[in-house]
Amino acid sequence: MDTTEITEGTTTVAVPVPPEGVNFPPSQAPVFYNPHMELNRDISIAATSAFAKRLAALRQISLSDITYVDTMAASGIRGLRIAREVGVSTTLNDWSQDAYDLIGRNIKRNDLSESATASCKNANVLLHEEHFNIVDLDPFGTPAPYLDAATRSAVHLLEVTATDTAPLCGAHLNSGIRKYAAVPLNNEYHSEMGVRILLGKVARELAKHDKAMIPLLSHATRHYVRAYLQIKRGAKHADKTLKKMGFISHCPICGHREITFGIAVPISDRCSLCENSTFIAGPLWLGQLHEIEFCEEVLEEIKKRSLNTAEKAKKIVTACSHELDIPTFYDQHLICKDLGLSASTMDEFIGKIENKGFEVSRTHFSGTSFKTNANISQIKRIFSSTQ
Ligand SMILES: C[S@@+](CC[C@H](N)C(=O)[O-])C[C@H]1O[C@@H](n2cnc3c(N)ncnc32)[C@H](O)[C@@H]1O
Ligand SMILES: [Zn+2]
Repeated sequence: MDTTEITEGTTTVAVPVPPEGVNFPPSQAPVFYNPHMELNRDISIAATSAFAKRLAALRQISLSDITYVDTMAASGIRGLRIAREVGVSTTLNDWSQDAYDLIGRNIKRNDLSESATASCKNANVLLHEEHFNIVDLDPFGTPAPYLDAATRSAVHLLEVTATDTAPLCGAHLNSGIRKYAAVPLNNEYHSEMGVRILLGKVARELAKHDKAMIPLLSHATRHYVRAYLQIKRGAKHADKTLKKMGFISHCPICGHREITFGIAVPISDRCSLCENSTFIAGPLWLGQLHEIEFCEEVLEEIKKRSLNTAEKAKKIVTACSHELDIPTFYDQHLICKDLGLSASTMDEFIGKIENKGFEVSRTHFSGTSFKTNANISQIKRIFSSTQ
């Protein structure tokens, strides 16, 4: 395998040389490396560091006592960065022999034999054999086949990426239903829908093992969803987590949405504003997507590191930390189109809602969207009356 060296953060690793002149998908290389996921990895370094510091302080242990597994490590770039740039003890696993060999080389290249170990197993086998403080799942496509083992193995934090946004967001409806045992809706807030469908699935997988989750940071960026979920053990905590599951009823005629908490609960299929029939999504996660203090700690970590994607990473995490804890968002362009108005700036738009005494925030999901506790008819009234 021909390799070339790349540097992310302060870590340099060998990765396969992509053939020249062709649009070569990273998944076709002998060992996977996707440069477009550097942003995902940069935020991971900052988030893992923030969490590891919390855990070390709480338990009065050193960072090197904390165990982290990169279950699907490919070249090892993610796990090696965690070993070198965060300082926890890492296991870098991949079932491919080529990947395992390259990981071994990259461990030596970075002189990390003390804190990084290569492993060549099916991720599910490894996760059933061992517990880790922090488990990272970064598969091709859906993490669904690994969630049972990952939620069993993870003691304190589960980090998960899903790149199957079409099933998660309702574009491939049946695939989403098969993988996540939930119905998504493909509407203007489909990206948030995807995050909530994934988190709903993880919450139920954790509950099987009498574990609960506290989402610390969750974002939908480009074509993937990424979440950092703190884990709490205990059946009572798990029961409490499941109480944050439920359904979203969405009216396709007027755009109103309502949430209903519960798993087996009556859900009205009539819009309470216009009486038309609604579409129902769920069961999905209706609880928080982020913890503000954690987002602030992650931001501090981003600021003090040398990261190639620092500006983008800061923008995403800042937007997450300012986002209202409300399960759907509205798109400014759709509302203006509906009302026959030309779109104003987001600041102006948001200001008008705020001036009427409602809570309102931007969202990291899209630059033209906002969250608010005003309902659709209140929003439309504000803009109709101000023209
Ligand atoms: C998306 S890549 C991982 C990328 C890597 N985490 C990074 O940040 O560059 C997925 C990797 O998972 C490996 N893989 C797929 N299924 C696996 C399984 N069941 N057990 C272990 N490794 C697996 C593949 O060989 C591939 O290297
Ligand atoms: Zn309606």
